[in-house]
Amino acid sequence: MRKKFVKTNNVKKFITMMNNLQNRAEGVPGMGLVYGEPGLGKTFAITWWAIQNNAVYIRCANNMSTRWLLEEVVEELGEIPYTKFSDIFNQAVAQLIKQPRIIIVDEVDYITIDSKAVETLRDLHDKTDCVIVLIGMSSANRRLMRHKHLYDRISEIQKFEIFTKTEIAQIINELSEIEMTDCAKNFIYSKTKRFRQIVKLINKAEQVAKANGLSSIDEIILKEVMIDDEPNQNDELNSSNSKNG
Ligand SMILES: Nc1ncnc2c1ncn2[C@@H]1O[C@H](COP(=O)(O)OP(=O)(O)O)[C@@H](O)[C@H]1O
Ligand SMILES: [Mg+2]
Repeated sequence: MRKKFVKTNNVKKFITMMNNLQNRAEGVPGMGLVYGEPGLGKTFAITWWAIQNNAVYIRCANNMSTRWLLEEVVEELGEIPYTKFSDIFNQAVAQLIKQPRIIIVDEVDYITIDSKAVETLRDLHDKTDCVIVLIGMSSANRRLMRHKHLYDRISEIQKFEIFTKTEIAQIINELSEIEMTDCAKNFIYSKTKRFRQIVKLINKAEQVAKANGLSSIDEIILKEVMIDDEPNQNDELNSSNSKNG
């Protein structure tokens, strides 16, 4: 399988959103929100963008406290966090004023339960005017609405959409080293709309095709691959409902 970054429609919209945030008019708040189901390529697109734009990337974790979040920010800014809580916040502010960076907070769902952590991100934005982008699951939008002061500052919102048939075909064409028949592409479309699973299927089907000296992948190979992988596939489908994206 080719190691490639596919510029899906979601990715293109995301790039536009980041440009809008960076070039916003004076007085327009600079917070953004990206949300959508797991496996649609949010983290992949955002980390790709973060590397190219020297943005700070933070991934929230279960039970992440406000202090932990701020420490991560300070460390990503290249500093050693102070000991006192209020000092850490001021340290992050001072550093961001000195050297403005875009802050990306992935898996934000973990901190939407604790209002303090999200309110701290709002404070950080107010004090520094740095762009802060939150990334979460489908429910993130609804959950963040409860934090009215923060939600007011979100000037750009993007939902990562499920792939269309044409997009799935484009993804397969770009990633699969071995050609896939139209029937095989339609079969994948009927089974999954998630990047993670598409990637897994292409990978396995390529292995089978290579082992058998085949020059194209058809529906039969895919069905075989899916039977072999059935327990794992089901696990992923079940867990994706409860897991963060
Ligand atoms: N734009 C892309 N180009 C190529 N592969 C991708 C792309 N987006 C996602 N993937 C693949 O799909 C997997 C799942 O994507 P991920 O970003 O983790 O989804 P999400 O954060 O929405 O749950 C990635 O690990 C990667 O293998
Ligand atoms: Mg993710």
